[in-house]
Amino acid sequence: MADSVSIYDKTFVPFIKKDAIASRVKEIASAINTAYKDKNPLFLGILNGSFIFAADLFRGLSIDAEISFIKLASYKGTSTTGHVVTAIGLEESLKGRHIIIIEDIIDTGKTLSAFLPEIYNRQPASVAIAVFLTKPGALKYDVKADYTAFEIEDKFVVGYGLDYDGYGRNLPDLYQLA
Ligand code: IMP
Ligand code: MG
Repeated sequence: MADSVSIYDKTFVPFIKKDAIASRVKEIASAINTAYKDKNPLFLGILNGSFIFAADLFRGLSIDAEISFIKLASYKGTSTTGHVVTAIGLEESLKGRHIIIIEDIIDTGKTLSAFLPEIYNRQPASVAIAVFLTKPGALKYDVKADYTAFEIEDKFVVGYGLDYDGYGRNLPDLYQLA
């Protein structure tokens, strides 16, 4: 693990090592193996940030499960609907399915809280959220993860799929702004 990583004008220092990440992701996978046995869940990975967490989590499953990836597009709705976030690339029917959303991080919670109604509108049997990171100190919207790998302080991080302006996603460990 590098002592520090520079991306543009910022320096990042080691924060959570890949071995610690791997063991937490395995624990979440086993919890899901138990909770979703015979439920054939459909995982929805939110791109881009979740792709590495999603790959590791999904490989930890021993139950029957499907996975699909979506991108979120954000726009301003009417005065009653407010901020709207819709899914691009969602072709599967969610009706009657057990859905597990995979996200890289819940920061303020704005993105997920605006997106969840779109999921519920499609009449799934259940919806759960599996997230790599949460920042409880930054949370402003009413959204709660069912599975969280790490709760971290409100500081910017990169690595394990998370980026700073497009870079840093390939780092196997997690780094924090110095
Ligand atoms: P929210 O809508 O405020 O919860 O923000 C969620 C999105 O912000 C995530 O999907 C990330 O793309 C981005 N984000 C928030 N905090 C960080 C961070 O510390 N590192 C990298 N991306 C972050
Ligand atoms: Mg991002």
